[in-house]
Amino acid sequence: MATQYDVVIIGAGAAGLMCALTAGYAGRSVLVIDHANKPGKKILMSGGGRCNFTNMATTPANFFSANPHFCISALKRYRPEHFVELVERHGLEYVEKAPGQLFCAGSAKDLLHILLTECDWAGVDIRLKTSVEQLTQHGEGMRLATSMGSIEAGAVVIASGGLSIPTMGATGFGYDIARQFGLEVTETRAALVPFTLTSQWKARAEALAGVSTEVQVRCRDGQYREPMLFTHRGVSGPAMLQISSYWLPGDELDINLLPGEDALAALTSARQTTPRRRLSTWLGERFPKRLAQSLVEWQGHDGVLAECSNATLAEWAETLNQWRLKPAGTEGWRTAEVTMGGVCTSAISSKTFEVQGLPQLRFIGEVLDVTGELGGYNFQWAWASAVACGQSL
Ligand code: FDA
Repeated sequence: MATQYDVVIIGAGAAGLMCALTAGYAGRSVLVIDHANKPGKKILMSGGGRCNFTNMATTPANFFSANPHFCISALKRYRPEHFVELVERHGLEYVEKAPGQLFCAGSAKDLLHILLTECDWAGVDIRLKTSVEQLTQHGEGMRLATSMGSIEAGAVVIASGGLSIPTMGATGFGYDIARQFGLEVTETRAALVPFTLTSQWKARAEALAGVSTEVQVRCRDGQYREPMLFTHRGVSGPAMLQISSYWLPGDELDINLLPGEDALAALTSARQTTPRRRLSTWLGERFPKRLAQSLVEWQGHDGVLAECSNATLAEWAETLNQWRLKPAGTEGWRTAEVTMGGVCTSAISSKTFEVQGLPQLRFIGEVLDVTGELGGYNFQWAWASAVACGQSL
C-alpha cells in the first residue's frame, strides 16, 4: 500500500521548507523528501554562516532569466517585508551589512531553526536520506518510487535547487524530471563564482591573496562597483562574483582600479603640485600597500612624478582605469553560489508554479531559470516562489 499525501516536496532547502510550511498551514498533508542527511545545508553555509536571507530593495531587475517577466508576480506578492515579519515573530536578530542586505546577527542555524519550527507547527513530515527513484503521473496525482517505499501525492513540488556545491547534495535531479515531462531546460552554468587566472596572472594574484580593493568591473552588459579580492587561484570578492553572471568563456573583464577617479588627470595634477613624490607613494595613498607595490612591479616602472613623461602617465592611467584581465575560467560548481539557467519557465505558471497541462507537478526556487544577483536576492526568490506555490496547492 502506497503512503498518501496531498503534497510531496522534493528538496528540504530554502524553497522546499517554505513551500511545505505554507501548504501545511493551508491544511494540506505535506511530506518533504531530501537525500541529504540534514535539511537546509545551503542556508547554513550561506553568507559566511550568517545567511544573507533577503534584500529589502529586491526588484525583478535583480534577476536573470530567459523570461525576465516570470519572477514579477511572485516577488510582488511575497516581499522582503513579509519574510522579515516572519523572522521577527521568532525574535531573530539580524543586521543590515550593506544597504538592503539582511544577515542573521548570530548564525544561519537560527534561521533554519525558524523554518523547521514552522514546518513542525504546520504538521509537515520531513524524511531525510531518502532518494526518489521514479516519478510518474498517476491519474490526477503523482506516484513516487522512493527508498522509503511507494508514495502517492495529489501534487509533487520539485525544489531540488541547482548544481552548485555537489558536496552539499546538489544534483541535476530537477532538470531530469523536467525533461522527463517534456519541459525544456535552459543551458546551465556556474554563477556568482570566483575567476581563475593563467600562469603569469595566477602567480601575481597568488602573491596578493587576501588583498581587496574597490573596483568598477564591466563585462558585456554588466557593470558593478564593489570590492575585488585576490585569491590563490585568481580573483573573487563581490565585484567578481557579480560580473561572473555576465561572463562567458573567452571574455575579458574591463576593470577600473580607481573607480570615480580620472587617473590621467589625477597623475598630471600630482606631477604639477607634488613633482618630487614617487609614483609608488601616490599609489600607496590609493591602494593597499601590497597591491601598490605589485602594480609598480607589473608596470616595471617607478620614479618621481617630475620625471614621468606624458606617455608614461598615460600608460599608468590606462592600467589603473582600464585594466583588461582575461580569466582562464571560473572555479565552477565546486564554489559557485548559484546556477544560471535551469528549468525553462515558458511552460510554468508564474502564479502557481504548476506545469501547464500538468498542475500536479510544480517547480520552485533555484531549479528554475531565475537567478538573482549577489546580495540576498536568491533566497528572496526561494521564499517568494515557494509561498506562491504553497498557497495554491
Ligand atoms: P537548495 O539548494 O537550497 O535546496 C535543494 C535541496 O534539494 C537540497 O537540500 C538538496 O539536498 C536537495 N536535493 C537535491 N537533489 C535531490 C535529489 N535528487 N533527491 C532529494 N533531494 C535532493 N543566496 C542568498 O540569497 N544569500 C546568500 O547569502 C547566499 N549565500 C550562498 C553561499 C553559498 C556558498 C552558496 C552555495 C549559495 C548561496 N546563496 C545565497 C544561494 C542560495 O543558497 C540558493 O539560491 C538557495 O539555497 C536556493 O534554494 P532552493 O531551495 O531552491 O535550493
